Amino acid sequence: MMLLGSDHGGLQLKDSIAAFLRERGIDFQDCGTFNGDSVDYPDFAEKVAGAVSRGEAASGILVCGTGIGISIAANKFPGVRAALATDPFMAQMAKEHNNANILVLGGRVTAPQKGREIVAAWLDATFAGGRHQARLDKITALEQRCRS
Ligand code: RB5
Repeated sequence: MMLLGSDHGGLQLKDSIAAFLRERGIDFQDCGTFNGDSVDYPDFAEKVAGAVSRGEAASGILVCGTGIGISIAANKFPGVRAALATDPFMAQMAKEHNNANILVLGGRVTAPQKGREIVAAWLDATFAGGRHQARLDKITALEQRCRS
């Protein structure tokens, strides 16, 4: 299951991505926000990245105004690799090299059509493994050292 979340700055792009996922027949749950009222992006990062971190969801897409704040918050959760992408190549690499389990976009940076292209590139890419897995293992080890 994929989870979707945004603050008010990412709402429009998040809703456009939700429509795109529906078109592609991808099963997802929208964790909000659901209207334009000002909200705090860490709360929506927690809904999505917390569930991914606990293994309750396989992946997620997060959107805030720039994508920066919600990335910072999402990457606090163990096992989460949240990658901000502003073009399809970044999104493809985020999966191929970083096995990003959360894709992040900026609603005030990325137009809806570009957003769809970015999401498609991430969905269609495959993790390359090999030397990239070894690097992810180093990130996991780093995470464990920081916790102890
Ligand atoms: C909210 O105004 C804005 O700060 C937020 O959407 C995001 O851009 C933060 O990084």
